Amino acid sequence: MLGEQKICFSGVQPSGNLTIGNYLGAIRNFATFSEAYKCFYCVVDQHAITVRQTPADLRRRTYETLALYMACGLDPEKNTLYVQSHVPAHAELSWILNCYTMFGELSRMTQFKDKSSKHADNVNAGLFTYPVLMASDILLYQTDVVPVGIDQKQHVELCRNIAERFNQVFPDTFTVPEPIIPQNGKKIMSLADPTKKMSKSDENQNAIVYILDDRDTIIRKFRRAVTDSDTAVRFAEGKDGINNLMTIYSCFTGKNMDEIEREFAGKGYGDFKLAVGEVTADALAPVQARYKELLADKAGLEAQMKRGAEEAAYYARKTLSKVQKKLGFVQIR
Ligand code: TYM
Repeated sequence: MLGEQKICFSGVQPSGNLTIGNYLGAIRNFATFSEAYKCFYCVVDQHAITVRQTPADLRRRTYETLALYMACGLDPEKNTLYVQSHVPAHAELSWILNCYTMFGELSRMTQFKDKSSKHADNVNAGLFTYPVLMASDILLYQTDVVPVGIDQKQHVELCRNIAERFNQVFPDTFTVPEPIIPQNGKKIMSLADPTKKMSKSDENQNAIVYILDDRDTIIRKFRRAVTDSDTAVRFAEGKDGINNLMTIYSCFTGKNMDEIEREFAGKGYGDFKLAVGEVTADALAPVQARYKELLADKAGLEAQMKRGAEEAAYYARKTLSKVQKKLGFVQIR
């Protein structure tokens, strides 16, 4: 809470082209909070460098992610949209919270275990303390709700533990946030291996549908999606591929699983896959068109970055000063 207003915070890494997993699990839902909450949506570039990035790509994707936020309906007049490295308080609070986070807690993070096995040649300390920076992002704004996909739930729970631990020593410092995870779309799976999450860092391009894929590519990728040897479009255990496609179809059409089963009764997987591709392409077309316009205006994006950073920094400094004072750091003006 900031005064009387409830706060919403979330972030996306500019570490790759964004997928329909990022869209359905997170970004698409962000705009639904804009009326009832004060919302901060951050492009978390500092998180992205926990794995090696090519500087030119990171720079380009930072602009692209901001443009995509806006193309997905986030009005910069109603939401604070900014880039993490432009607000130094994130890194400052992160150091402090590192001293209130236990080694054992960080060791249990499944994302750390996954990423450290995937990047075995670069298991750096940033990869390990990543959830502390994420907790700082959230706690700096006295956040009430954090809309995320299910893969980030463990990190938000750790953030809650850190906030509660700090509040025990220094009462009333942080609001303890709640993760908000969508019922439908919380974990969109890979099209190539539907037992795995769809991830922007997957090397298999057929596993991923990007928000910016063109219509033909989207339809082709869904056509190739791995399914089972059954033929009925039915949501059932063991049918991971079809369950995933039904989830995507449901997210884009608003139909529930029974309705989808009825719609495709007597039809084969081929017809269904084509329909999933078409509704996805139809839903993404306006986002893509708006994105192109926004990205063409680099100066406009930079002006937004500046405005967003100034606004975020104002709130972030308030929490950071409060924390520093409580800890016993001498304040000079
Ligand atoms: P990131 O960049 O990996 O993903 C951004 C958001 O997309 C969701 N997501 C998915 N949802 C459903 N199905 C999928 N296949 C899928 N893949 C990704 C993620 O859950 C996330 O909500 N650590 C975060 C970024 C972050 C953050 C924060 C989030 C940094 N600080 C503070 C919230 C609050 C991350 O790596 O997300």
